[in-house]
Amino acid sequence: MLDPEEQKAYTQNGRQFMKAWRYYSDEVYKAYESDQNLKRPQPPLVKAPMRPGQAPIDLPRDFESLSMPKDAYTLMRQRKSSRYYSQGGISLLNLSFLLWASQGIRDIRGKSYATLRTVPSGGGRHAFETYLVVNRVEGLEAGLYHYLPMGHQLEFLGPVEEPKGTISASLSGQSWAAKADVIFYWSCVAYRAEWRYGISAHRVVLIDAGHVAQNLYLACAALGLGTCAIAAYDQEFCDKLFELDGQEEFMVYAAPVGTISAADQAEEKAFYKFVEDQGL
Ligand SMILES: Cc1cc2nc3c(=O)[nH]c(=O)nc-3n(C[C@H](O)[C@H](O)[C@H](O)COP(=O)(O)O)c2cc1C
Repeated sequence: MLDPEEQKAYTQNGRQFMKAWRYYSDEVYKAYESDQNLKRPQPPLVKAPMRPGQAPIDLPRDFESLSMPKDAYTLMRQRKSSRYYSQGGISLLNLSFLLWASQGIRDIRGKSYATLRTVPSGGGRHAFETYLVVNRVEGLEAGLYHYLPMGHQLEFLGPVEEPKGTISASLSGQSWAAKADVIFYWSCVAYRAEWRYGISAHRVVLIDAGHVAQNLYLACAALGLGTCAIAAYDQEFCDKLFELDGQEEFMVYAAPVGTISAADQAEEKAFYKFVEDQGL
């Protein structure tokens, strides 16, 4: 166990990280020049396909045909974390809507200066990539996928060996998530934000991640599906699963999505009792 002084130092460090532009001393901050200021070329707005030789899968966009509550009040009231899924499977149109709601591109500014998406992002950097483990989505082979937001497409990365164990291990043993129909994983391509914000980029990226998950929550509420944000994922396992180098690109967030089990309400109460009893 760390001694109290060491614990305090780590805590202070974490608090400092959260403060606007103040993680480093004024001296360091003023002396630092971002690559944008130095007129270095901007990195690509999105990651290139990982399987360039393979035809991507076009996602349907006829979202008007989905029956959803239209008022914000209903959606916000229905938003909650759901961890108990009936394994009913979801349609490709539902998955398409969830991808669009969480990371869809609605416009591009400049020649290729920034994407505008369905979620906000500090400086329009949008440093995330979306990956999926698909268990049960109509018309999709089970396995690993990467979202290509420019064309609103998916690329198939390959099958998953032993999906239950893989999903559970990727989320640090949260085995309930293996019953989800699809699991979203968001990585961060760090330089996309660092190019502009340099040594202050990282805090902004993490704030951005919240918007992505909140839109997924609201889109799930609209479709009657369940999701749950997950920060307790296994870094190395996830990075390896999706072939990320763990330095330039690494996982930062995850969220299983599924059809909600009828027992969800009761199970949720049991879940909170369990975590409280265990002191988790
Ligand atoms: C950043 C973040 C990380 C979370 N990580 C986990 C997690 O690893 N496992 C989990 O079961 N729930 C996780 N949750 C869900 C919270 O436990 C949940 O939002 C909270 O209990 C409130 O419940 P509600 O979302 O239904 O309002 C996370 C939520 C957020 C926003």
